Amino acid sequence: MANLTQQMIEEAAAYIETKTALTPEIGLILGSGLGVIGDEVEESVTIPYADIPHFPISTVEGHAGELVIGRLQGRVIVLMRGRFHMYEGYEPERTAMPVRVMKRLGAKSLLVTNAAGGINLNFASGNLMLISDHINLSGRNPLVGPNDNALGARFPDMSDAYTRRLRAIAKETAAELGIGLQEGVYVGLLGPNYETPAEIRMLRVLGGDAVGMSTVPEVIVARHAGMEVVGISCITNMAAGILDQPLSHEEVMETTERVKSEFVSLVLALLPKL
Ligand code: HPA
Repeated sequence: MANLTQQMIEEAAAYIETKTALTPEIGLILGSGLGVIGDEVEESVTIPYADIPHFPISTVEGHAGELVIGRLQGRVIVLMRGRFHMYEGYEPERTAMPVRVMKRLGAKSLLVTNAAGGINLNFASGNLMLISDHINLSGRNPLVGPNDNALGARFPDMSDAYTRRLRAIAKETAAELGIGLQEGVYVGLLGPNYETPAEIRMLRVLGGDAVGMSTVPEVIVARHAGMEVVGISCITNMAAGILDQPLSHEEVMETTERVKSEFVSLVLALLPKL
């Protein structure tokens, strides 16, 4: 679908507003396996994506596909349980459309999490990594097409894409909780295949610390919309060719499960400070 209009965003937001009187301050997009946070939301309403006008519908295993709005840690949040990926076939602007809806609903900041392969040899499977910056190697961009100046600038600045202030807060919070937090550059690829060992060597030379197939379109749209962003990757596996073993979605899900409680505590502790 080409050219998402403000009217489509408006219709999606207006539908959501018929389901809750709450005005969300923070948007959350949680990667595979972290949807459990949705269970902790108070005064919550849950809206299947399929019911929201113009929302895409998620197809990947482990992504439930519903929007949860409510209170979490004293903050009003709008949470995506399950996200959209360009490898599913969505146009980049559709992939990131929920972020525009979040902004329209009132969200000023966006907290994103994902699963990623570790490129940095100092990382290990199960580490959490604060995203300091990203490299968009997906070959796609959600802002391509006529720019709607009401949504954001034609040429948005990305020099502080992952807000410095929020990164400092994330580091401080992890330290308080005694949770180890790596920091590094997330490389976003289109997928859906995992990378080749040669691609991983290339990405390391380019300055990447972790690699994944999500997050970049959402963050570009969030910055376009003037939202502050904080991102955390779960290093679910070391990237291709580093260890002498094949990669699998099962390993990704297993590692997420293993570090879930730590990951959830960090996200929950972060919310009141955003
Ligand atoms: N590569 C790309 N995406 C991923 C990986 C990976 O190794 N692990 C989890 N998501």
